[in-house]
Amino acid sequence: MELYLDSANLDEIRHVASLGIISGVTTNPSLLAKEDPTVDVRQRILEIYSLVGGHVSVEVVSTDADGMLREAEEILSWFPEATIKIPMIPEGLKAVRRLSQQEVDTNVTLIFTPSQALAANNAGATYVSVFVGRLDDVGSDGMAVVRDVREIWDIQGLSSQILAASIRHPMHIIEAAKAGADIATCPYKALMQSLQHPLTDKGLSAFLADHRKMQEEIAKAKGALV
Ligand code: G3P
Repeated sequence: MELYLDSANLDEIRHVASLGIISGVTTNPSLLAKEDPTVDVRQRILEIYSLVGGHVSVEVVSTDADGMLREAEEILSWFPEATIKIPMIPEGLKAVRRLSQQEVDTNVTLIFTPSQALAANNAGATYVSVFVGRLDDVGSDGMAVVRDVREIWDIQGLSSQILAASIRHPMHIIEAAKAGADIATCPYKALMQSLQHPLTDKGLSAFLADHRKMQEEIAKAKGALV
């Protein structure tokens, strides 16, 4: 399962990209608004793309297909490798179909049910983003939707990439991998938490302390010889 970072924060993206563990970044209007509100979106997206050099999902804000297609054209003029993120609404499906005919990658977002995912796939979506955490927030089992989508995809031989989104903690990442998601897009905090274990830190401290002790003993032994 690939990992993407779900962020528009350049420091976070720079850091995680430098670790070599992500192959893409997903953004949305809320993530962009959380950063400097006066930021030029085109400039911010291009900075993100230069840091990642891989998948970058950029979301449209129109709610009609023609408006979405106009926005997609503009985003693609910034960098032709952009993945156009489109909301899971009927007008969005129309736009996805048109973009798929033009061989433009699309990421259908705000998917909460397998039937929405199926419709997005049939419209030609490259990625279907299932919002796990937001379903958990309202007392539903978000990961069950990822599992159902995987099962349907395998039975039917469907091709959209299953993207587990709205990830909230490290267990979501593991569960998404077990559920068969192709990608999990994770917030910085959850991704960094997923790298840590207290026994790793404890073990490293012990290794370094023993190494230091050994060096001291070698230095002492050398001193005794002169
Ligand atoms: O990028 C879309 C999705 O991952 C949003 O997550 O935490 O706002 O539910 P969240």
